[in-house]
Amino acid sequence: MVSDSSSLDISDEEFAEIRNALLFNRGFNLDAYKDRCVRRRIAIRVRATHCTSVKEYCDHLHTHKPEIAHLLKVLTIHVSQFFRNFSTFEKLRLEILPYLFDSARSRGTKELKIWSLGCASGEEPYTLALILAEQFAEVIKEIPVVIEATDIDSATLDLAKSGLYSPERMQEMPEQYLHKYFNLLDNQYKLSPEIAAMVTFKTGDMFNDLLYHNCDLLICRNVMIYFSREQQDRIFRNIARVLNPDGFMVLGKSETLLGESRALFQTVCPVERIYRLAAAAAKT
Ligand SMILES: C[S@@+](CC[C@H](N)C(=O)[O-])C[C@H]1O[C@@H](n2cnc3c(N)ncnc32)[C@H](O)[C@@H]1O
Repeated sequence: MVSDSSSLDISDEEFAEIRNALLFNRGFNLDAYKDRCVRRRIAIRVRATHCTSVKEYCDHLHTHKPEIAHLLKVLTIHVSQFFRNFSTFEKLRLEILPYLFDSARSRGTKELKIWSLGCASGEEPYTLALILAEQFAEVIKEIPVVIEATDIDSATLDLAKSGLYSPERMQEMPEQYLHKYFNLLDNQYKLSPEIAAMVTFKTGDMFNDLLYHNCDLLICRNVMIYFSREQQDRIFRNIARVLNPDGFMVLGKSETLLGESRALFQTVCPVERIYRLAAAAAKT
């Protein structure tokens, strides 16, 4: 009997059954995620579907295909906001972006590439697009910026592409942006097409090593916390492989580099969790 989601016992066989259903139907590999966190979230779906046991939920998962999408949605948390952790975006606006433009100019690079990895419904890459449009309008004519955003959940990316946001997503948004780049329609804010066009969204799994491509600023915030230490190392190795020599990586406020990953990067700003390649830092 299922009474309390936090105390739900999932046997190894049941866990394997759920894992295989996700892997087979969606190519989603549960192994990378922290075990306790995953079990708690599966329990949420067991309760929500009114199944009386995990076994019954496994059967439900096989016979009701939409449940795969519901489970994936609770496993991958999509909370985000425009200008989430405002001070991080201030640091990017005042120091990191000017540095990247200067370095591109001195190297004769034609464009800059920004990548938001685990972008959820798009608030993070759109915030960067807003900052670039508002504060670097002249510079981006000279050095265009390509902004790409990736997430594993295509339903969340559909929300991102719609550019329609509820007021709670805008709480940290400075007024000047709200008035200039959004239209209020039925209590929802619609992002201007000019900003929407600056970001390209793609579905992709961070555990696909082939997903990685070179970039100058890689933002991967509030995603690593869900992964085991070993899997975090794997992602950090991939990031270090594709980050351009003068590039930066930004993590979430509660994330940090652990173990072998610490050797790959040099901390630029510990408070805002901004890093650059250790090899690049060693040269300067
Ligand atoms: C909490 S949101 C973070 C959104 C945004 N980066 C921020 O900080 O506001 C985490 C996102 O990571 C995505 N995610 C989880 N596992 C992923 C994976 N293996 N590959 C790509 N994205 C993943 C989830 O779908 C979710 O949208």
